[in-house]
Parts: sequence; structure tokens; C-alpha cells
Amino acid sequence: MKAIKVPLKEAEKVKSLLIKQGLLCRVCPPIKDSKYIYFAINGRVPGFTQVEKRFNKIVSSDSLFLKGLTKKEYSLLPTSYDLIGDIMILDLPEELSKKSKFIAETYIKILKGIKVVADKVGIHHGVFRTQDLKILSGEKRKITTHIENGLRMKLNVETCYFSPRLSTDRIDVASQIKKPEQVLVMFSGVAPYPLVISKYSKAKEIIGIEINPEAHKFAEENIKLNKLKNIKVYQGDVRKVLPKLKMNFDRILMPLPRSAELFLDLALEYIKPNGIIHLYGFSDDLQLAESYVRAIKNLDNNAKILKIRKCGQFAPRKFRIRVDFSP
Ligand SMILES: C[S@@+](CC[C@H](N)C(=O)[O-])C[C@H]1O[C@@H](n2cnc3c(N)ncnc32)[C@H](O)[C@@H]1O
Repeated sequence: MKAIKVPLKEAEKVKSLLIKQGLLCRVCPPIKDSKYIYFAINGRVPGFTQVEKRFNKIVSSDSLFLKGLTKKEYSLLPTSYDLIGDIMILDLPEELSKKSKFIAETYIKILKGIKVVADKVGIHHGVFRTQDLKILSGEKRKITTHIENGLRMKLNVETCYFSPRLSTDRIDVASQIKKPEQVLVMFSGVAPYPLVISKYSKAKEIIGIEINPEAHKFAEENIKLNKLKNIKVYQGDVRKVLPKLKMNFDRILMPLPRSAELFLDLALEYIKPNGIIHLYGFSDDLQLAESYVRAIKNLDNNAKILKIRKCGQFAPRKFRIRVDFSP
């Protein structure tokens, strides 16, 4: 399949350009390596390095979509989606709502292993950060088992928060743990961070705290499913649960991007001297993490910022970031 090779920094700009010109292939999600992103294209794009690439999807599926969509509708198909276990989660634009069933059925036909196609309704909301979903095609269920980094993670994709896009971040954090540390994962969800840390690091014990009872139930199930022995999870508000544990930690993860900084005081109280805190947030490219660094310094002027990392993009120019620091 013809593709253009684009430096990662220019990905968003070039993607918008290709969409505007109707040149982006809608059924082949881009492929990335450490420096470049490869967009499958439907025609000639002057000014870019053109290469041949194998994409995940079957190119002839274009014609399947075009049987039921106008060219304009085809150009509105999302260029990315989430796959959680055997459930595909789309975010279709309003203009495609009348064709949503056809689109979902076509995806089931062309993508092996997908049993359910659902569409996002609104955005993540509430304390549990969950996402309402409407099943468009396939089996009528929202529970699935996702495999990430060789671990099985069972969950209900509507009642629990889970993002497969954080798999690299989870490995990145685990790879930092080279001693038998005591680790706390605040906001642990269905336990993806505890599971990956348990399997891929030297951590002695991992404690998870999660307020959503349904996510907590799956976390307990996932620990058993993967036969991991050094994880303990607690259900409840981290502010109430943590003081009762009477423990201090070598490392604390705070993966709650919209409001984790409100819990910084708690993390600073329960971190051991020279421990490491991983604070998650959202930021645009320009002021990467500035406000989070300020929030940290306000509480602890001596805090050492160790690393600031982009660990995902959730909208054009909006990044999920992680600030690693030591009090
Ligand atoms: C963005 S999700 C991350 C979940 C999980 N760490 C993951 O990566 O899949 C944030 C989680 O924090 C939980 N949460 C929100 N406020 C909380 C609190 N005060 N105490 C404990 N958990 C909380 C939510 O229910 C949600 O599951």
C-alpha cells in the first residue's frame, strides 16, 4: 500500500492536510515507529517521501465501505479507533449517524476477531471517568478480556475506565522499578498498572486504590486471572483508604489526569524520602506540564523534577503527560 513517511512532530498537521485533500486512506490506521508516522494514501501527495508499507487492514475494504457511503461520508470515517479485547470502539461524527450500523457491520466483516462494534456517546464523565457506549453491531455485550503485554485484563468497557493506549506507559513505569519497592497506584481502575508492574518489575508489593466498585471487582478478578501474588487492591476514596493502611511507599503513581494534582498533598505525605511520584495530567505541546510543575513546587519547593514525558495524545495538540518527581 502506498504511504507517506512523516516525522512524528508533523503528524497532526499532515493528517489534517491529507483529510482536507481527500487523500488519506480511511480504512488503514497509520503505523508509527520511534521517529516517523506512515499514512496510507489514496493518490499522489507531492512534497513527501512516498514508501510502500503493509497496513493492518485489507485495502479492498475501501470498496466495501464505498458501497454504502458517499465519497463525502467515506472521507468522514474516523482514522483511529480503540480495540479493547474483541470490542471495537468508534467515535463517529454526527454526520455519519444514519450510516453507523452499516459502518459497524462492515468493520465486523473486514476485521478478524472483532465481535462487538460500539460508538462513543459523549466524553468520559463523572468521578469514575467512564464512557457511555452504544452497541452498533455484533454481540450485545460490553464485557471483554483484553490482552496487554501478555496479561489478561477483564472489564466492562462502559462501566470501567480503561485505555489500551497507555500500554507503553505502563511498561515504561515498570522498567524504572529495579529494586524490591513498595508501590502505590492511586486510582487503579481494573488494575492495568499494578498487573504490568507486578509482571515486569522487581516491585515487592503493589497496592491499588480505586473508588469505582465495579472496576475494583474486575481488578480483583484480574489479579487472580494472572496468578499474581504481590498485588493488593482496596475499594474506596484514596483520601479515606490511604491513611487507614498506615504504609509509606517508595513510588506512588497518580494516573488521574484531570484532577490528580488535588491529591498531591496526600502523595507527599505517604512517599518515603527519596521516593518517586508519577503525576499524570493533560497539556498542550507549548506549555508542556508547566502548571503541574508549579502545583508540585507550591507544595514542595525542593521537589526535583526527574522527567516529563508525553504518554499519549487524545486530541490535536492535547497530550497526556507524566511528570516524574522526587520530593
Ligand atoms: C483515568 S482512570 C485510570 C484507571 C487506571 N489506572 C487505568 O489506567 O486504566 C482514573 C480512575 O480513578 C478512579 N478515581 C477517581 N477518583 C478517585 C478517588 N478519589 N479515589 C480512588 N479512585 C478514584 C476512577 O474511578 C477511575 O477508575
